[in-house]
Amino acid sequence: MRIAMIGTGYVGLVSGACFSEFGVDVVCVDKNEAKIACLNDGEIPIFEPGLDDLVANNVKAGRLSFTTDLGPAVQAADAVFIAVGTPSRRGDGHADLSYVYAAAREIAENMDGYTVVVTKSTVPVGTGREVEKIIRETRPDAQFDVVSNPEFLREGSAINDFMRPDRVVIGTKSEKAREVMRQLYRPLYLIETPIIFTSRPTSELIKYAANTFLATKITFINEIADLCEKLDADVQDVARGIGLDGRIGRKFLHTGPGYGGSCFPKDTLALVRTAQDAGSPLRIVETVVDINSRRKKAMADRIIAACGGSVDGKTIAVLGVTFKPNTDDMRDAPSLDILPALAAAGADLRAYDPEGMKEAREMIPGVQWCDTAYETMGGANAVTILTEWNEFRMLDLARVKRLLKDPVMVDLRNIYNPTEMAQVGFRYHCLGRPFAEPAAVAAAVAEPV
Ligand code: NAD
Ligand code: UGA
Repeated sequence: MRIAMIGTGYVGLVSGACFSEFGVDVVCVDKNEAKIACLNDGEIPIFEPGLDDLVANNVKAGRLSFTTDLGPAVQAADAVFIAVGTPSRRGDGHADLSYVYAAAREIAENMDGYTVVVTKSTVPVGTGREVEKIIRETRPDAQFDVVSNPEFLREGSAINDFMRPDRVVIGTKSEKAREVMRQLYRPLYLIETPIIFTSRPTSELIKYAANTFLATKITFINEIADLCEKLDADVQDVARGIGLDGRIGRKFLHTGPGYGGSCFPKDTLALVRTAQDAGSPLRIVETVVDINSRRKKAMADRIIAACGGSVDGKTIAVLGVTFKPNTDDMRDAPSLDILPALAAAGADLRAYDPEGMKEAREMIPGVQWCDTAYETMGGANAVTILTEWNEFRMLDLARVKRLLKDPVMVDLRNIYNPTEMAQVGFRYHCLGRPFAEPAAVAAAVAEPV
C-alpha cells in the first residue's frame, strides 16, 4: 500500500509516521519548504512526545519520506490524504476551506489510476461533495472516490491516540474505497478497534459533534467551578462525584482557564455557523462559545484580584503558556488573552514554558522570557500557573516562597492542594475550591480541637 499525505503538520506528520509504522509506504508532502528541509535533515518541526524516534525509525526503514513535490507522490499513491489546515475564516467563523480545495485541485492534476482521496482535515458537512466536484471538473477522466476519515488524536498524546483510537470513522458509499480503507486500518482491526462505516456527511458531522460535545463538557464543569466558589463547595469532588457515573464519565471534567488549542475554538464556532445556515441553530454550542471566550478574558481579572486589586507596577511570574502540556502549540491558548490583559493593567511579565516559548515570543510581545520556573519567580509579586506541565506539579514550595516577594500563587489548573498551600504560608487561589486562609490554617494546626 502506498499513500501520500498532503499537509505535514500535527495531523499529517503524526498520521503519516503511524501509517508507515503499520508497514504502509508513506510520502508526506508540504508546501512549506523550511518544514520539509527540516524533516529531511532528521529534525522534527513540532514538539510531540515520541515522534522523533517514530519518524527516524521509519525513514531509516525506507517507508517514510518528505517532499514539496506533490506530483510524483500522488501519482504513485493508492490513497491520498488531505491533512491541511482548516482555520476559522476571518470575519464569519466558518471553516476556511481554501487549503482543502487547493489541495484537491493539485491532487486531481496528478492522479494516476484509481485513487481514494481521503479528507482527514476537519471539514464541514458537504466538503467531501465539493472536493469530488473539484476533482471531477479538473479531471473528467479520473477514477476516484472521495472518503471522509476524520482524525480524533490529541496533541501531546497523538501517537498513542492514533495507534490505539477509541474508534475509526470512515464515510463513503463506495465498496471499493471501503476496501482500501480496510486495508490501511488493518492493524487496528486486529486490536478490535471499532470501525464505523457511514455516509460521508455523517462522518463529517461526527467529527464536529465529538469536539463540540467535549468543549461543552469542559464548559459545564467550568461553570460548576464558578458556582462552587459561591457555595463553598469543591469542584474536584463534584467532578469525581458525577464522573463516576458511567453515563457521564470522568474524562474532560477538569476545570481550567477555558479550552484553547487549534481545534475546539475553531470547530465549535464552525459548527455554530453550519447549524445557523441549515436553519437548525445549536443554542447550547452558541452559549459554550460565548462562555469560553469570556472565561479566558476573566482569568486576568482573577489574577489581578489575587494581587490585591491592582498589578500596576507589579511583577507577575507566569508558568506555562501553551494551551495544554506536552505540545509547543500556541494556537488559541488562554495565555494569548491573559498575558496582554495583565500587561495592559500595568504588570511586568516574566514567563517560562518548557516547549512553547519559541512561538510565544513572537505572539506575545513585552514579556521577559526565562530559562527555568525558578528563575521566572525570582522577585515576583505573584506566580500564576497557566499550563499543567509535569515540572510545575512538584515545585519546591519553600524555595518558591523564598523567591517570591509576596507568597501569592494563582493556579488556574488546580494542581496543588489548597490546605497544604495555606500551611506552607501561601495565599493560594485556584478554581472552584474553597480558599484556605494561611493564618486560619496555621491557627487550626496550632490548636487542634
Ligand atoms: P497544521 O497547520 O499543523 O498543518 C497543516 C499543514 O498543511 C501546514 O504545514 C501547511 O503548510 C500544509 N499545507 C497547506 N496547504 C497545502 C497544500 N496545498 N499542499 C501541501 N501542504 C499544504 O494543521 P494541523 O493541526 O495538522 O490540522 C490539520 C487538520 O486536521 C485541521 O483540519 C484540523 O482541524 C484537523 N485536526 C487537527 C488535530 C490537532 O491536534 N492538531 C487533531 C485532529 C484533527
Ligand atoms: C482535541 C480533542 O481532544 C481531540 O480528540 C481532537 O482530535 C482534537 O481536539 C482536534 O480536533 O484537533 P487537543 O486540542 O489536542 O484535542 O487537546 P485536548 O486535550 O482536547 O484539550 C483541549 C483544551 O481543553 C485544552 O486547552 C485543555 O486544557 C482543555 N481541557 C481539556 C480542559 O480545560 N479540561 C479538561 O478536562 C480537558
